[in-house]
Amino acid sequence: MKITYIESDGTPHMIDATCGWSIMENAVKNGVPGLLAECGGSATCGTCRIYVDADWSAKMDKPHADELALLEYVDEEDPNARLSCQIEMNEKLDGLVVRMPEKQYR
Ligand code: FES
Repeated sequence: MKITYIESDGTPHMIDATCGWSIMENAVKNGVPGLLAECGGSATCGTCRIYVDADWSAKMDKPHADELALLEYVDEEDPNARLSCQIEMNEKLDGLVVRMPEKQYR
């Protein structure tokens, strides 16, 4: 099972993903740069943002109100933005490609 994370400069990082871990956890535990994840996954920091294209987004649960509120709080305007800590890896997402912002908010 694979996830590819693409940095803002186009650098890809493909990892062997673990089901049941979040997209954030899969990145951090595999040394992918770009996701600070300062709150450890509790949806309170906004430093794990990714961008998910529509084809993949359709295979994911919709974001909860708390996730949308935090994205709004950090002034994220891209409609494809998600918090990677709030998306759990599963079989449907095998081959997932996500893009990362140039920098995360602090
Ligand atoms: S890790 Fe903090 S919001 Fe996702």
